[in-house]
Amino acid sequence: MEYYQIPQTNLSVSKISLGCMRIANKTIDEVDALVTACLEYGINFFDHADIYGKGQSEQLFGEVLKRHPEYRNKMIIQTKCGIVSGCRYDFSKEHIIQSVNESLNRLHVDSIDILLLHRPDALCDPMEVGQAFKELYEAGKVRYFGVSNHTPYQIKLLQKYCPYPIIINQLQLSIVHSNIIDAGIHMNMKEPLAFDTDMGILDYCRYNDIMIQAWSPLQASWTEGSFIDHPNYEPLNQLLNQLACEYKVSKTAIAIAWILRHPAHIQPIVGTTSIAHLKECIDAIKVHLTSQQWYDLYKASGKTLP
Ligand SMILES: NC(=O)c1ccc[n+]([C@@H]2O[C@H](COP(=O)([O-])OP(=O)(O)OC[C@H]3O[C@@H](n4cnc5c(N)ncnc54)[C@H](OP(=O)(O)O)[C@@H]3O)[C@@H](O)[C@H]2O)c1
Repeated sequence: MEYYQIPQTNLSVSKISLGCMRIANKTIDEVDALVTACLEYGINFFDHADIYGKGQSEQLFGEVLKRHPEYRNKMIIQTKCGIVSGCRYDFSKEHIIQSVNESLNRLHVDSIDILLLHRPDALCDPMEVGQAFKELYEAGKVRYFGVSNHTPYQIKLLQKYCPYPIIINQLQLSIVHSNIIDAGIHMNMKEPLAFDTDMGILDYCRYNDIMIQAWSPLQASWTEGSFIDHPNYEPLNQLLNQLACEYKVSKTAIAIAWILRHPAHIQPIVGTTSIAHLKECIDAIKVHLTSQQWYDLYKASGKTLP
């Protein structure tokens, strides 16, 4: 495994991390085996959210920590709050603090290493968020703070009132879902790829030393699922296969390597629950795509270059 130093922190995190959204329907033995495999492979970063499996993902992970208390010191645990599923977004001080207290209980830990605000709340009062963060930090319940799916100005506004640096922005990124990269490549053109849905967030984060995490690194979309072996993405799979043979890894590894090849030091959050797939993702570390291969994969996913 290789590691990134998260800017503005003393945290050294594995380049590949495990997202725990999909563990909710697994047995405790299966989750135990997955988490144990991660640690054996050098993965030290685990991503959660209060809402994953309605709390069940954190609960199961906490059960594994009860079985293996020695694991806690080897891990960086991140969780998120701010979505009240199907109802609203809620960045009120009361909700943030209550959510963290519940996550701490479920995860069976004294502190969360990184807390992210999951998705922007239109009714967010940044001063109130700053107060919630201060209370959590001073109580020793959260060490660092970040966001997910936030625009540059949403981050800037939060940062104005938050006494701690925003260190992470977790964004959706895969070869197929590459919005944060597309607009920069197609800038000043009239085509749809030039439409910047994310307001320059990639360069904003790089400029401000905010680490980007890539969620759903193998997904095309919620409806299609993974693009690996998906009939809608035949040219992409052909090229993934060709490069997989060349580098002696799987197609999955090449897809993850495409994210790692970007110089922004992006951390893929992989969501597999299979140890075999996990190993394929980790193999991405061995691959350093050429610039031409990176652009060829971009085009094979159905996009153009201006
Ligand atoms: N911040 C946000 O708004 C947000 C939103 C969504 C997710 N997330 C985070 O991102 C993490 C990853 O999301 P994700 O689960 O959608 O990511 P992903 O790694 O793109 O997808 C994992 C899914 O793809 C399947 N898959 C199919 N073929 C695979 C292959 N060859 N290799 C590996 N997996 C394959 C996996 O099945 P198997 O289990 O059978 O391998 C699993 O169901 C989540 O766990 C969560 O922590 C964040």
